Amino acid sequence: RCLTLIGAPTDVGASVLGASMGPDALRIAGIAGALRGRGLQVSDLGNLPGPGNPQAPASGGWRHLPEVTAWCQAVHVATAGVLQAGALPLLMGGDHSLAIGSISAVAAHCRASGRRLKVLWLDAHADANTPASSPSGNLHGMPVACLLGQGPQQLVELGGAAPVLSARQITQIGVRSVDPLEKQFVNRQGIVVHDMRAIDEQGMRAVVQQALADVDEHTHLHVSFDLDCLDPSVAPGVGTPVRGGPTYREMQLCMEMLADSGALASLDLVELNPALDTRNQTAELAVDLLESLFGKSTLVRP
Ligand code: ARG
Ligand code: MN
Ligand code: MN
Ligand code: MN
Repeated sequence: RCLTLIGAPTDVGASVLGASMGPDALRIAGIAGALRGRGLQVSDLGNLPGPGNPQAPASGGWRHLPEVTAWCQAVHVATAGVLQAGALPLLMGGDHSLAIGSISAVAAHCRASGRRLKVLWLDAHADANTPASSPSGNLHGMPVACLLGQGPQQLVELGGAAPVLSARQITQIGVRSVDPLEKQFVNRQGIVVHDMRAIDEQGMRAVVQQALADVDEHTHLHVSFDLDCLDPSVAPGVGTPVRGGPTYREMQLCMEMLADSGALASLDLVELNPALDTRNQTAELAVDLLESLFGKSTLVRP
C-alpha cells in the first residue's frame, strides 16, 4: 500500500502561533521511517506553499478567511491528486481548519467512486462553531460546521458541491470543550459525540465499537486526528490544550481498533505545536500512535 505525506505548514486558522512547524516536527520524529516500518511505501510531497500569518484581529465573525481559504484549496488539490494516484493521503498540519480542504477532496473522491465516507473526528473540541457562534473567530474552531454546510461560503463551497457531509457521516471522540452556542448547533445537527463522559462511563473499547458500527468493506474511513484530543500531560505540544483527555493507553486502544477495521483510507494529523512542546515529545507520541493505527501490535494477532 502507498502512503503520501502532505505538509501544510500554517497556523492561520488557530488562536496561537506555532502549528505551522508541525510538519517538520513530525518528520524529525521519524514519521516516514515509522510508516515504512509498517510495510507502507511512503513518499513525501514536502510542504505546500501558502500565505503567511497576518496576525489580524477577527472581523465579520472570523479571522484570516482569505488565508485559510488559500491553504484549504492547496490541501484540497494535493489530497485529490494523492487519492487519484491510488495512495493514502496523510495530511500533516497545520491547524484543524485544513480538514475542510482534505475532507472535501476525500468526499469528492468517494462520490466519484461510489464509496461510503465515514469521518472519525478525534478532538478535545467539537470544531462546530459558525461565525455567529464562535467566541474567537478562529477558523480551526469551525471546520465541522463548514463541512456540514454552515459557515463562510468560500469554505462551505471549497470543493464545489455543498454540503460536503451529512451529520450522520461524522462521529466525534474525546470531546470535552464545546462553546455555549456551539453546543446548540451540535445538538440541532444531531452529530454523534462520544465525549469524555462517555469514555469514562463506557470505556474506549465500547465507544470505538459504536463509532465503527456502520463501517464495512465499502466504507472509506477518514480519521481527522487533532492531537489536543490526548490528555495534555502526555501531549503538551498543542495550542489549545484541555485537561481530562484520553490517556496514552486509551488512545493506543482506539488506534488498534481502527487498524483492525481495515477501513482507514485517509488521515489528518493536525494541531501539533512544536513551539509549546517539550523536546518534541508530542510529535514522537503521534508517530508512536500512528504505528498502531497502521497495524503495529505486541503479539501476532489472528
Ligand atoms: N472552541 C474554540 C473556538 O472555536 C476552540 C477551538 C479549538 N479548535 C482546534 N482545532 N484546536 O475558538
Ligand atoms: Mn482541538
Ligand atoms: Mn480540532
Ligand atoms: Mn514506537
